[in-house]
Amino acid sequence: MRITATVNGQTRQADDVWEGESLLYVLRERMGLPGSKNACEQGECGSCTVYMDDQAVCACLVAAGQAEGRSIVTVEGLAMKGASEREMGGELHPVQQAFIEAGAVQCGFCTPGLLVAAHDLLRRVGQPADAEIREALAGNLCRCTGYENILAAVRLAADRWQDRAS
Ligand code: FES
Ligand code: FES
Repeated sequence: MRITATVNGQTRQADDVWEGESLLYVLRERMGLPGSKNACEQGECGSCTVYMDDQAVCACLVAAGQAEGRSIVTVEGLAMKGASEREMGGELHPVQQAFIEAGAVQCGFCTPGLLVAAHDLLRRVGQPADAEIREALAGNLCRCTGYENILAAVRLAADRWQDRAS
């Protein structure tokens, strides 16, 4: 079957998609967007988190056909051009930059999903408490960092994002 969706602001099509394929597979293998990672393929690790119609979802659990006509934003789409979040593909989003500066990336396998989850938190809660950050990221597993630098990155991103908005 053919899948047509808006991906990172652009209309994209994938042909010959098998009904059992996941959205994650389509993004990575058919649309050339390898940012979202496939770590467990069971909805357990969060490394494949993307937005679908503005809801954060595990792309490995979304059947490709469910993405038909939807709007998908991947970690690649978080990057911003100028100040507008709608114009994607330019400079790094403050959340992405904060993860780099806080040393929240080691192997990087968990990072794309954490970035989308952190972005989803910070667009709703300007200055989340640590407990809110931990809860928001509870579905995203990291085997490397021990999470402290990830917490620091989200705090830094919250400050930067607020500064940018004010
Ligand atoms: S790869 Fe989707 S949740 Fe782990
Ligand atoms: S940085 Fe390696 S799993 Fe998180």
